[in-house]
Amino acid sequence: MTGWKVPATKPYFSEEDIGFITEKFKDILRGNSFLTMHKYAAEFESKFAAYIGTKFAVGCNSGTSALEMICRALKISGKEVILPSNTFVASANAVLNAGAIPVFADCGDDLCLDAADVGKRITSKTAAIMTVHIGGIVSNGTLQLQRLCRERGIHFIEDAAQAHGSSLNGIKAGAFGVASGFSFFSTKVMTTGEGGMVATDNAGLASEMKSLREFGKVPTGIYINYYRAMGYNWRMPEVAALMGLRQLQSLDVFVKRRQEIAKIYDEELYGNSDIVIVHPPNPKSHNYFKYMVILPNHDRADVHKALVADGIQPSGYVYELPLHRQPVFPEHNGLSLPKTEYVCARHLCLPIFYGMTDEQAHYVASSLKRILEGSK
Ligand SMILES: Cc1ncc(COP(=O)(O)O)c(C=O)c1O
Repeated sequence: MTGWKVPATKPYFSEEDIGFITEKFKDILRGNSFLTMHKYAAEFESKFAAYIGTKFAVGCNSGTSALEMICRALKISGKEVILPSNTFVASANAVLNAGAIPVFADCGDDLCLDAADVGKRITSKTAAIMTVHIGGIVSNGTLQLQRLCRERGIHFIEDAAQAHGSSLNGIKAGAFGVASGFSFFSTKVMTTGEGGMVATDNAGLASEMKSLREFGKVPTGIYINYYRAMGYNWRMPEVAALMGLRQLQSLDVFVKRRQEIAKIYDEELYGNSDIVIVHPPNPKSHNYFKYMVILPNHDRADVHKALVADGIQPSGYVYELPLHRQPVFPEHNGLSLPKTEYVCARHLCLPIFYGMTDEQAHYVASSLKRILEGSK
C-alpha cells in the first residue's frame, strides 16, 4: 500500500482502538481467556445483530463461509439459486459448495440484480434468490426481490459482504432477507483482517449455523463430539472479534467520511459527458464501499493504466469479468447477460477510504478528467 499518491484503500484503527485490542489480546495470550470463539466473539455477535436490527448474528471466519452456512442451513441442496453474474466468485461458490445450482441473472444500471430479469428465471426448482449489494448499494430492486420471494414462497438471501452500514428506507442492509452474509476482509468498510457474520431473525437457522461452523456438532448429554450434519471449522478467533468490536463502534463515522469523499467526487465529476456516476438510491444511506463510474467513451484499460501512472491505485472492480464468462464456470459461458457484460467492461472504481484527504479526492478527480480529455 506504500508508494501510491492515493492507495485504493486503507484500514483505520485509532490509537485508542490499538490500545484496547492489544491489551485484551495480551490478556488472552497470558492464558486468562480462550483464544477462539469465546466471550469477545459472543459480544461482537450480539452488538452486530443489534446494529443491523436482527435478532441473531452468527460469527465465522469469512464472508464466504457466512454465505455457505446460510445455504447449508436452508437445506437447498439440489435446488436452484438465482444470483447476479456481476458478483465476487464467493457468492456462487457458496451456492455450489452447499450442493445447490447457481442460475445467473442480469443487473440494472445500478449494477445490482435486476428483479425483472430474475422473475423470468424462476422455475419450480428455484429455492432462493441471493441478491448482492454490490459496491454497498442497497438498490430499490431489493424491495421488489423481497416481494417476489414472499409471493413465490422462496428464500431471500442477502450477500451483504460489501454493505456494512448501508440502508434503504431506514432498514439496514442485512435485515431484508431470511439471512444475510457479511465479510470483514481487509478491504471492507469495517474489517477484522479475515472474518464474517450472518445476520438473521430466524432462531432455528441461527442455531443450525452455530452447529455447522463447528463441524456440525450438537452437544448431547455428556457428549461434546456428537455430529448431526457435515460441518466445517468456520470459527472466528477472539483477536478478530476484538478488532470487529472496535470497527463496529466506528462504522457510522467511517461511513460518514466516505460519504464526504463521494460528495467531492460527485461535485467534480457530475455533468462530465465521458463519465456516468453510479448513484445509490440515497447517498446519505450508502456506505460507499465503492465509488463507481462508467466510462462509455473510453477504453477502460487505458484509463486504468494512466491513473496508475499518476500514482493512483484504482480500487478493485466490482467486477471486471462477470461470473458467467469465467473459465471456472464453462457451462455458463454461452449465457448472454447484456447489461452485466456492458457495466463489467466499462466501469471503474475510484479510491475511497476513511483516512483519505479532501486533497487526494480532488487529485483523483482532476487526474481522471485530464486523462479522459487527453485521450479523445
Ligand atoms: C460480494 C462478496 N461476496 C462474498 C465475499 C466473500 O467474503 P470473504 O472474502 O470474507 O470470504 C466478498 C468479499 O470478498 C464479496 O465482496
